[in-house]
Amino acid sequence: MSNAGFSGKPQKPSPDSGEDIPAALRDASDVAPGKGKIPVLILGGAAGFVVLAVISGFLFFITAPKKSTQEASAPSTTVSPSVNPADAQAQANGSLLGHLPYAEAPESELASISNDGRFRMRKAAAQQFLAMQQAARSAGVNLTVISAFRSVKEQEQLFFAVGAQRNQTPAQRAALSAPPNYSEHHTGYAIDIGDGNVPATNLSANFEKTKAYEWLSQNAAKFRFELSFPKDNIQGVSYEPWHWRFVGDTQSLETFYKAKNLKPQK
Ligand code: DAL
Ligand code: ZN
Repeated sequence: MSNAGFSGKPQKPSPDSGEDIPAALRDASDVAPGKGKIPVLILGGAAGFVVLAVISGFLFFITAPKKSTQEASAPSTTVSPSVNPADAQAQANGSLLGHLPYAEAPESELASISNDGRFRMRKAAAQQFLAMQQAARSAGVNLTVISAFRSVKEQEQLFFAVGAQRNQTPAQRAALSAPPNYSEHHTGYAIDIGDGNVPATNLSANFEKTKAYEWLSQNAAKFRFELSFPKDNIQGVSYEPWHWRFVGDTQSLETFYKAKNLKPQK
């Protein structure tokens, strides 16, 4: 039998025929005609981007304004206004003319230290002062009270009215008397002490020559009192050997030392 037109061997499909790929898959490849070109496009885009970045970086480098070497290496200088150290301290601790601010003690906290009730101190201070006065008396020393708690109103009179009488400027007055709201006497912890045997030395530097002062210097700390304004005190207030303050409990200690930048003076 003749097999004309038929070699008898199975025909090798041409590479392009796609006949050894199932029809379904062939169709699928047909609907994505650019599939083989995608990586080429991505690579091309990325390379373009890199080229553009390099060019724009170069353009920026040659056109950006340059700091001179001198400018770049010069230390930066900030101009700060000069502040007087005394003013800086006043700003830090809120002082006025060398005196620190103090609140008035509440009436309910005050107790009398004199028979007529004229002089009052905070209860703890009053108790210790009376004990100190008694101990001094036993040693033949007469501690008298010149002033103790003072209200802001009383201090106003003392500062402004007495200052005007004496023709004193605020600075001159402040060397002797605190402005209202700035007196230790407001706290109920401060007291002015005299020598009952030498009243002429009351509120005078000569008080330091009295027996009372000598006794206080040696014994006041036992009763938890200290001198507020010794000679050359950092507040610049005149030497007041008669003015003592109670520093014998937490509240009084905090009142005079806490957050005031004050170091104890020996
Ligand atoms: N003499 C003192 C400073 C006062 O007035 O509080
Ligand atoms: Zn005083």
